[in-house]
Amino acid sequence: MMSINRNLELEIEKAAQILATGELVAIPTETVYGLAANAQQDAAVAKIFVAKGRPANHPLIVHVLEASDADYFASEIPDFAQKLMQAFWPGPLTVIVPRKKNRATAAAGGHDSVGLRSPSHPVARALLKQCALLGVKGLAAPSANLFGKVSPTNAQHVRADFPANLYVLDGGECSVGIESTIVDCTRQAPVLLRPGMISADQIEQTTGLRLILNADLKVLGKEAPKASGTLESHYAPKAKLRLFSKKQLADEIVKYADQKLLNLIGIYSTLPNSKIESIIYRLMPDDAAQCAHDLFSILRDFDQYAVEEIWVENVPDLSEWAGVKDRLKRAAASA
Ligand code: TXA
Ligand code: MG
Repeated sequence: MMSINRNLELEIEKAAQILATGELVAIPTETVYGLAANAQQDAAVAKIFVAKGRPANHPLIVHVLEASDADYFASEIPDFAQKLMQAFWPGPLTVIVPRKKNRATAAAGGHDSVGLRSPSHPVARALLKQCALLGVKGLAAPSANLFGKVSPTNAQHVRADFPANLYVLDGGECSVGIESTIVDCTRQAPVLLRPGMISADQIEQTTGLRLILNADLKVLGKEAPKASGTLESHYAPKAKLRLFSKKQLADEIVKYADQKLLNLIGIYSTLPNSKIESIIYRLMPDDAAQCAHDLFSILRDFDQYAVEEIWVENVPDLSEWAGVKDRLKRAAASA
């Protein structure tokens, strides 16, 4: 875990001041970097939508320091939401709960619910403390990337997407690497809107309730509001991403080996025997947490090489891999 030296302390104070005056700051969290504004200032939040090129009715997550701060934004916190917050906050879990009138209105995209998360990153927490001293009760922050692009997991990623005048608080590499698990708590039972590193199994164990999948709601015609994090095609690298089984991947590589196609790249659980020069290989960690940590950074690296295709071996169909699998599926869908 990173320690906060005097220099970083000063940067955190400066960031809090910028946020209090209604401007944007890019902030580190344990999941991905966020593009933050004072959640109570609709005009400041509007700047996020403009900077990202994101539709204004797509709701943003509001970051708070403690579970007790959730009451400022939430009109009601159901019992099972409380259990989730107790178990996983601070950490990579967002709960969607009913929203108080006139609280985080623009951040909620006009919806009558609000997404809340207490981040565990020490810099994010120090910043939220400083913000509280200046009267800022929560920070609305989507991922700090342009709309539809891969989320940033370090400060360099953010700087690559936005103009140089954006203040970026550098908190190093994100430890989790993919966005938070989102659970809609506005119905009788929890609904999984976006899988992440807190797994469906963990949510069911903690709440004692059966988790409903967003796909099931679609069948019932009762789906949650359209939002970037749940769009079919999202988290897209520039290259075309294709998913293969281990066997398919091996076959495809043999097929293309003779043609010497340029700019083919793959992520594999095992490296193929014959190394082909036109392919850049990245070994996929066989541990879900490590893979999540590396994923977006690898995709952004590949884009730096201006490759045409990214070939990825499918990850296991296990609860702890669901977050990674979801991001890969969406990245592949946009090709
Ligand atoms: O890990 C994360 O969650 C990161 C870091 C910065 O905290 N944030 C993030 O934000 O991924 P963003 O804006 O890229 O994704 C937020 C998603 C929306 O796309 C939507 O799916 C969901 O959160 N969301 C937020 N508020 C909601 C609401 N009131 N109703 C339904 N969905 C909501
Ligand atoms: Mg995002």
